[in-house]
Amino acid sequence: MPATRTQLSQAYPIGSRVDEDGRLQLGGCDAVELAREFGTPAYIVSEDDLRARAQTFVEAFQARTKDFDVLFASKAFPCTAIYRVLAQEGIACDVASGGELALALRGGFDPARIYMHGNAKSVAELQFARDCGVGHIVVDNADEIERLAAVVGEGTPQPVLLRVTPDVRGRTNDKISTGQADSKFGFSMADAPGAIERVQASEQLDLVGLHLHIGSQILELEPFRLAIEAIADLGDFGTYNLGGGLGVAYTAGQEPPRIADYVAAKVDTVNRVLGPGKRILDEPGRALVANSTVTLYTVQSVKRNVSTWVAVDGGMSDNLRPMLYGSVYEAQVADRFGGGTLARLTGKHCESGDVIVREVELDDPRVGDVIVTPATGAYGHAMANNYNGVPRPPVIMVAHGDARVVVRRETYDDLFARDVD
Ligand code: LLP
Repeated sequence: MPATRTQLSQAYPIGSRVDEDGRLQLGGCDAVELAREFGTPAYIVSEDDLRARAQTFVEAFQARTKDFDVLFASKAFPCTAIYRVLAQEGIACDVASGGELALALRGGFDPARIYMHGNAKSVAELQFARDCGVGHIVVDNADEIERLAAVVGEGTPQPVLLRVTPDVRGRTNDKISTGQADSKFGFSMADAPGAIERVQASEQLDLVGLHLHIGSQILELEPFRLAIEAIADLGDFGTYNLGGGLGVAYTAGQEPPRIADYVAAKVDTVNRVLGPGKRILDEPGRALVANSTVTLYTVQSVKRNVSTWVAVDGGMSDNLRPMLYGSVYEAQVADRFGGGTLARLTGKHCESGDVIVREVELDDPRVGDVIVTPATGAYGHAMANNYNGVPRPPVIMVAHGDARVVVRRETYDDLFARDVD
C-alpha cells in the first residue's frame, strides 16, 4: 500500500495507525474488531491520548510559570471515566452545572479544585456547590452576587472569580463565540468595576480574581492576547482564569496552534500586561479531549441519485456539531483507507439536515463497512441525544491492545426509565 494512503491525519488519536493490511488500529486495537465486539455507533477513546494531552498542557505551563492550574472544561466530555483519567493526571476541573459537578465528584476530583461556572446558576446548584465544598465559584452576573451571598449566609466566605466579557472576539462560529460585548456571559467592561466593588464589599464573597473566556475552536493566538490586554485596567488581582478556546484539527487541512505556543502566548501576555507572579488558570475542553476519540459507524445503505448517499447507523443523535455549527469532519472506511467514491455521509435520522460529512471520499463504500470519523471526543457524547428514540452510543476506552466499556450503550428500557406510569 502506498505510504500516502497509510498516513493518518492529525485528527486521529496519538498512537493510532493504519497497519500493513490497511486496517485502522486505535490504542493497539483493530477498529473493525472493536465495531464487531461492541457494536456501532460507538465512541472509542484512546486513554494514552487523553493522558498525553493533559501532560502536554501541564508541562507547557511548568516551563513558563510556577503558579498555575490546568482545569478540564468538563462540558466537553462529561463522562465519569474521562473525569477519572484527567483527575489522575493531576489537573483541576471546571463544571458548568450541578450535573457536571456531580459527575466531577464521582470521577474523583477534589471539590477544592473544582471551579463552578454558569450564567444561570440556580439556588439549588449554588447550595450543592457550597455543600460539597467547591473551591471557587465563577460569578457571572449581578443577580448571582445577591443569590450566592444569600446562600453563603453566615457560613465561611466563598472564594469567587468574577467573569468579565472583554469585548474581544476570535474568529469562530457565532454560536460558540463569547468574548464580544453583546454576550450572555459575564459582566461587560462597563459593569465590571461596579461589580468588583460590590463583591469586594461583600462579607459572604471573597474575590480572588477575574475570569474570561472569549470562545471556542479558535485557531489563532492573537485574540487570546488581546483579551488579556483588555482587562488590564480592571485592577490588580492575584488570580486570572483565562478560559479555554484553543481549537483543534478536525481534518487534515487544519493547523491549530501547538499547545505549548498557546500556553506561552497566554502566560507571556499575563506577565507583560498584568505583571509577574500571577496565579494563572486555563480551562481547555476541546484541546484536551477532541482528538482522543473517534466514532465508529456501520453502513446501512448506499443510495445513488444526484449524490452518493452513504447512510450509517448514527448521526445527529451522536454528533450534533455538523448540524449546529456546520463543522467539517473527515471519514474513512476503517479497513480500506483512501478515496475513490465522492459521497455524502449521512445519518439515520428523519430529516435532510442529518448529514455527518457533506463531501467525503471513501473507498468503494458498501453495506456493512465500518466507517470512522475522528475528533469526536469534544461535545460529541456531551451533546448526544435520543432523537428518533435512538439509544446513545457506548464509550469504549482503549489502551495497549485492551478495550473496556466505560459507558454502556443505552437500551430501549433506558428510553422508558423515567416513565412514571
Ligand atoms: N471555559 C468556559 C467558561 C467555557 O464556556 C468553555 C466552553 C470552555 C472553558 C472550554 O472551551 P474549549 O476549550 O472547549 O473551547 N458545543 C460547542 C462548544 C461550546 C463551548 C462552550 N464553552 C461545540 O461543539 O463546538
